[in-house]
Amino acid sequence: MKKSIKKITALTKRKGFVYPSSLIYGGFSSTYDFGPRGVALKNNLKNEWWKEMTRCQDDVVGLDSSIIMNPKIWQASGHLSKGFADKLSECKDCHKRFKDLEEDGKSTEKCPDCGGDLMEPRDFNLMMKTFVGPVEDDATTAYLRAETCQGIFVNFKNVMDSMRVDLPFGIAQIGKSFRNEITPGNFIFRMREFEQMEMQWFCNKKEADEFFEFWLKQRLEWYEKMGIDMEKIRKNEIGEDERAHYARRQVDIEYKFPFGWGEIEGIHNRGDWDLSNHSKHSDEDLMVDGDYPWVIETSIGVERSFLAFLVDSYEELESGRSNDAESKEVVLKLDPKLSPTKVAVFPLLKNKKKLTKKAKLIFEEIKKEFDAVYDETGSIGKRYRRQDEVGTPLCVTVDFDSLEDDSVTVRERDSMEQIRVSEKELKKVVRRFMEGEEFGKLGKKA
Ligand code: GAP
Repeated sequence: MKKSIKKITALTKRKGFVYPSSLIYGGFSSTYDFGPRGVALKNNLKNEWWKEMTRCQDDVVGLDSSIIMNPKIWQASGHLSKGFADKLSECKDCHKRFKDLEEDGKSTEKCPDCGGDLMEPRDFNLMMKTFVGPVEDDATTAYLRAETCQGIFVNFKNVMDSMRVDLPFGIAQIGKSFRNEITPGNFIFRMREFEQMEMQWFCNKKEADEFFEFWLKQRLEWYEKMGIDMEKIRKNEIGEDERAHYARRQVDIEYKFPFGWGEIEGIHNRGDWDLSNHSKHSDEDLMVDGDYPWVIETSIGVERSFLAFLVDSYEELESGRSNDAESKEVVLKLDPKLSPTKVAVFPLLKNKKKLTKKAKLIFEEIKKEFDAVYDETGSIGKRYRRQDEVGTPLCVTVDFDSLEDDSVTVRERDSMEQIRVSEKELKKVVRRFMEGEEFGKLGKKA
């Protein structure tokens, strides 16, 4: 089975995960909206990261800073300079624009598309501009943040003063970032508006190398815990020439997408770049005990990792597993922690009142604790298939025996194993399954 972004894009649109944005107006370049299932998956992903970074790590606290901040911040951070710009080449004939041709070893004189002459390459800054207030001039120019962490650096002293934390400690934040990318693309891989989950770890200079290794390892373990195929994950140590302008060391965590290896997270040693520059530009003393703390950063893109988890979990089965073999079946083998819906509840037949009544009662009970859906239309096979396609790990069926013994059949998505569980025990069984217990051991084989 060959996975392709085209197939995944089609599935995500068809099943309410991701829609191209502004579609009724013909769309809008490389912008996407997340549908009901997409927002659920995204929230699960963010919750898992947040839990891992702030609850499981004693010394990491949270923050939610502004998207539009004082523009001086971007001067101090270096984002308004050349370091945060792409080389833009434009064709004189077809006016197509290309980024970093020289870096990619391509001619900077001829258009790669039509062969026309290219204009002299120029630096193109990636910061998105806006104006604050009614007048549009230099004095009101502001920027949408290009990385969430600048909000962390400028709040570093606030957090230290208000939270009784001491070095080493971290600040984590999830939020939108914006970059005026010249060549967005590959579905939701490169966009102009995206979300980042960043953690800045403030420590003493002499501990920075050790903490770099610690966080790199910790982040790699997280992907494994989230069920991703580790054969498709690699570390890429970035050389000095290609590193971000603030980074002394940079290791990208990459995933093998259908279009090739792509960065989903960056681990950076930012040294004292940010705190010392903000001190200089703001005149605020941001030192601790006479030194600037050093910063180790973990920075993961929400949409990029969302795409990696989707690609990774996408499977097509050649033969029908639900007596409906006309077309290929898709199963999203998402880790249950990420699945938009955890449990689907079905009555065996739609037109048997006793069955639907019982199934609805079970659904009402289960949805108090887990994201659940109720479905009574189509054959049971079709209903299983519907849930497989959107990654629901458990399906519960109420049958005629249920009316006698108050038990239900629970079927697991990946193994298709079925167990019989008493109604009373059902929530506990789902809870234990979600905690990672082996499905087959949670009830009698059905
Ligand atoms: N604060 C560090 C920082 O922003 P980065 O490597 O530029 O580092 C971190 O970005 C992560 O943000 C990337 O690994 C990627 O997942 C995500 N990201 C960056 N630019 C993106 C874009 N245009 N579209 C989607 N995600 C992006």
